[in-house]
Amino acid sequence: MTLIRVLSNITLGLILSASFVSAGEFKPLRGQTAVRVCADAYNLPYSNNKLEGFDNKIAAIIGEELGLPVEYYWFPQRIGFGRNTIKKVDNETGKFLCDLAMSIPAERGMYSPTTAYFSSIDAMVYRTGEGYELKTISDVAKVSKENKKLKIGLFDRATATTILLENGLEDQIEYFQMMTGDIRVNSGRIISEALASGQIDVAFAWGPIAAYYADHSDVEMKVVPLNELGTDLIFSFGMGVRHQDKAWQELLNKILEKRKDDIAAIVATYNFPSLANVKQSPKKKRKTAYTIENGKVDDSTYTGWHLFNTTCFVCHGDDALGTDRAPNLVTRLEGMSSRAFRKKVLHRYFAKVNLDDPDRRMAFLAQIAEKDAVKFKMPIWSDEPNIRAHIGDLYSYLKARSDGALAEGQPKRLSK
Ligand code: HEC
Repeated sequence: MTLIRVLSNITLGLILSASFVSAGEFKPLRGQTAVRVCADAYNLPYSNNKLEGFDNKIAAIIGEELGLPVEYYWFPQRIGFGRNTIKKVDNETGKFLCDLAMSIPAERGMYSPTTAYFSSIDAMVYRTGEGYELKTISDVAKVSKENKKLKIGLFDRATATTILLENGLEDQIEYFQMMTGDIRVNSGRIISEALASGQIDVAFAWGPIAAYYADHSDVEMKVVPLNELGTDLIFSFGMGVRHQDKAWQELLNKILEKRKDDIAAIVATYNFPSLANVKQSPKKKRKTAYTIENGKVDDSTYTGWHLFNTTCFVCHGDDALGTDRAPNLVTRLEGMSSRAFRKKVLHRYFAKVNLDDPDRRMAFLAQIAEKDAVKFKMPIWSDEPNIRAHIGDLYSYLKARSDGALAEGQPKRLSK
């Protein structure tokens, strides 16, 4: 038995006896005898095995509404969490280990998400009372020049990294590892240890973590939301269920709706940094698929042309006019919505390729360029990051070709 399992069993006993409540308005699903939550035993402010996290308290509300006890299956919330919890079947019982993951991104991915119950953004945390004030990242550069060279603590791939580098702060950054080998230690240590002890002077961390560990430190600290990152970097979180558990997802959404004020009140006690002044990110949505002026095309259409004529042309032909291997897309795109296009290219077809590796990519292209390539089907492109990222650009290009707005050959760009 692993440590986690032992702990979970001990805690389980406590909860079972403590949390039976009278039935709420909602009926549990057929066969459901508990709200079985997958959570991390050492991950405040989200959850811990003393049930002090906001997710613990929100899970208790779900239990209350269904008149069911809340049981936990503990597992460190890291890579492999879903695979080892909500998607894993217990050999002894034949049931999944748990049915509800808390605080997961509010987009469909590994899980089907419920309605989101909190949103946040990265924040900057520093010790107060040292004779300076920090409101934006450029203040860090300013204080470093005029006052003292501030030591910055950052997790790898933090959203603030680019702005820090643009401000010439590269030499002052110490990179921290997000996860250590110890499952009881989470990213809050950048604040509770490194910032409190003076090892660093400014820490960058995800809002809820920043708020919680600054609040719980003996050292006075200030948490500043990174408003300059823009609204695109506000992320929302809900609960997650298995994709097939549609009824469970619906039931949870109803409870979340009914109890939204109570849930907001729980979250509010954790003092997440305010989102009131986050800068509006520039609108990304374009009204039309492409822009063409005097025969010159926008960047997206240009990128689409480039990608098409380095990857897709081997089957669909130069300028998308078709070959004996694959159809003419100029005609096929008539009346095809961008959504339908996306779906077809990324998911519908079956020959699976992964072209991450440049050698395999070249081998693949060489192979399908050969005469006997007729046997090749349209690949599924969803594993190819470059196609995935530029699927909208490919559509812009092909739509422009299909509408007759763009001639054959290499287009000129509007910019540059
Ligand atoms: C290995 C050859 C091959 C490559 C490479 C390829 N395709 Fe295809 N594609 C096909 C074949 C074959 C079909 C026709 C499948 C069918 O009709 O069932 C097809 C169908 C399509 C369709 C659907 C047409 C329709 O009317 O439904 C679209 C859209 C498409 N491809 C786009 C692309 C794009 C974009 C790329 C580059 C990222 C690409 N294809 C690369 C072989 C290929």
